[in-house]
Amino acid sequence: MPRSGHLLFGFSLLLLYSAAAATAAAAAGGGDGVPRFREAPQFYNSPGCPPPLPPSSAASCSPSAMVHVAMTLDIAYLRGSMAAIHSVLQHTSCPQSIQFHFVASSAIDYLNTTISNSFPSLSFRIYPFDDSLVSGLISTSIRQALDRPLNYARSYLARLLPDCARRVVYLDSDLVLVDDIAALASTPLPDGIALAAPEYCNANFTSYFTPSFWSNPALSMAFEGRKACYFNTGVMVMDLEKWREEAYTERIEEWMELQKRMRIYELGSLPPFLLVFAGRIAAVEHRWNQHGLGGDNYRGLCRDLHPGPVSLLHWSGKGKPWARLDAGRPCPLDALWAPYDLLQTPFSIEDS
Ligand SMILES: *[C@@H]1O[C@H](CO)[C@@H](O)[C@H](O)[C@H]1NC(C)=O
Ligand SMILES: *[C@@H]1O[C@H](CO)[C@@H](O)[C@H](O)[C@H]1NC(C)=O
Repeated sequence: MPRSGHLLFGFSLLLLYSAAAATAAAAAGGGDGVPRFREAPQFYNSPGCPPPLPPSSAASCSPSAMVHVAMTLDIAYLRGSMAAIHSVLQHTSCPQSIQFHFVASSAIDYLNTTISNSFPSLSFRIYPFDDSLVSGLISTSIRQALDRPLNYARSYLARLLPDCARRVVYLDSDLVLVDDIAALASTPLPDGIALAAPEYCNANFTSYFTPSFWSNPALSMAFEGRKACYFNTGVMVMDLEKWREEAYTERIEEWMELQKRMRIYELGSLPPFLLVFAGRIAAVEHRWNQHGLGGDNYRGLCRDLHPGPVSLLHWSGKGKPWARLDAGRPCPLDALWAPYDLLQTPFSIEDS
């Protein structure tokens, strides 16, 4: 008897829990399927910073911005983007001197309102991205998420953003900074170098391209005369002026065209970047992209930090911290993402 009593009690708890979880999900989704976010704290410029940029959701590019940040926005990854923006503002000395350039292909009004509501003093603009620009160039990869057209927007920043944003820091949506982005943005870019990112020369570079690529000398000679190393395209400092001069967007597109005709690589947007830039980038300290925290692509195992200091945590890979936290099965490092989360929970709605 006590046993079944226990069971019954456990069962009703479970029912209660499911009902609460359903309510929570509906409330977090605002009941209409779109997530709602709370307002981030206001962050102020320290003494010594330039005067704050005026808050604007239609900012024209300001030459007095200290750092230009470029990111993509879509509903699927919005929770990650909001946390990333929050983390940038929290850890920089001059948060009111950072200008954000967002690229989005749909739900632009909703994204515009959501960003304005959560970051009322942000200086930003949303640039519409036409998915059809790249959809004809994308060949399917092993991970569907990598095939989203918006994932290729980083190759088009030089066309989308105004000339005044000469140097931009591109950031993925599944990361948080724990250090001042101004330090990353000021990475020296020597003459003729348009891109800086942490390089990983121990990674097996061969494995990013197919045997038919390596066995074709006309193709593999693309890497001749340079020390090509893997780099992750989720965190990059880009000089868009040099980029335009060298027509890098067109060069990336040429490799994508070739990929449509013969399979020269497996993963989505990364290999064309490697083809054009590997061995021709300025190095950034590894602390600026502690990547791979999303875990193993096949089994979703938790990953640990790479040795050394940490300025940026990047949940690249299959698992995302918000999904694992919601599912009640977080990896240990996901706890470091949670403080930047701005998703409105029913509890915080009641509080406010
Ligand atoms: C975002 O909203 C502002 C203010 O309502 C508006 O001026 C701007 O054009 C909007 N941006 C886009 C890309 O729709
Ligand atoms: C690198 O990857 C290639 C292709 O995936 C493989 O054939 C080669 O053995 C690997 N090399 C090392 C050192 O692991």
